[in-house]
Amino acid sequence: MRRLLVLAACMTAGTVFAVDAPPEGKRIYDRVCVSCHGNDLSDAPQLKQPAMWTARLAKGRDALHHNALNGFVGATGEEMPPRGGQPELTDAEVKAAVDYMISTFNTTRTTP
Ligand code: HEC
Repeated sequence: MRRLLVLAACMTAGTVFAVDAPPEGKRIYDRVCVSCHGNDLSDAPQLKQPAMWTARLAKGRDALHHNALNGFVGATGEEMPPRGGQPELTDAEVKAAVDYMISTFNTTRTTP
């Protein structure tokens, strides 16, 4: 029921994603991804700054999964290493971390 409400809230707000972030996503983010995406020293898009993600979110969740798994160099010229530089992470773990990241924008974003 709660999930339905969240979904409905997302649809009402016109957000692109309705993501159910699995709990291991946060665990992996906190262990691996935070070193670049959660410190202001890195040029990586910061989780605390949703505006840095607007164009990235517009690519869709599959594209973000793909780029997190395979690595990505975009407009900033900075490198997102494949699997955050941790080759032992499984596909499911990397995707869960991406989903966790996306889910933080759904709850903090104020504009659609
Ligand atoms: C060594 C630093 C570093 C680590 C660790 C890291 N990232 Fe990144 N990530 C980056 C940088 C830099 C970019 C931006 C690349 C660009 O746009 O040029 C990025 C971009 C991304 C993007 C957006 C890709 C796109 O298509 O715009 C996603 C999603 C992402 N990272 C997920 C993750 C996840 C999940 C983890 C942990 C498993 C992780 N990152 C760990 C540096 C890092």
